[in-house]
Amino acid sequence: MERTFVMLKPDAVQRRLIGELIGRIEAKNLNIVAMKMMRIEPQMAETHYGEHREKPFFKDLVDFVTSGPVVAMIIEGPNAISVMRAMMGTTNPFNATPGTIRGDFGLDLTQNLIHASDSPESAKREIALFFPE
Ligand code: CMP
Repeated sequence: MERTFVMLKPDAVQRRLIGELIGRIEAKNLNIVAMKMMRIEPQMAETHYGEHREKPFFKDLVDFVTSGPVVAMIIEGPNAISVMRAMMGTTNPFNATPGTIRGDFGLDLTQNLIHASDSPESAKREIALFFPE
């Protein structure tokens, strides 16, 4: 069993895709072990996306994820990290395979609906940030 952090971004909430996206996670038979709708403060967004601090898109990214409510989740299952990454599709929605979340619903590099941890280290860090004990 493995745990990963998943976040439905403000565009997913605004587009009323929460049910569709959670439905896909449940249909895959992954467990939702924690879930909350919340607003992210800019400081938390900067911590979460710290590795992108020097990137030209950093400000847009922080502005976007703080622009409205998100749905934060801890997802559990066998190989949950790679399974969620595969279900999510590539970062660039123009390349994302149909059948993936970004492949089916995404058309923008920043407003790309969903985040899922990319490694066990990221999952541990992101779960601790969003779901502190
Ligand atoms: P996410 O998987 O949450 O992790 C980093 C985010 O940065 C990514 O989703 C995109 O929303 C954003 N991102 C990555 N590359 C670019 C880019 N070239 N231009 C704008 N945003 C980007």
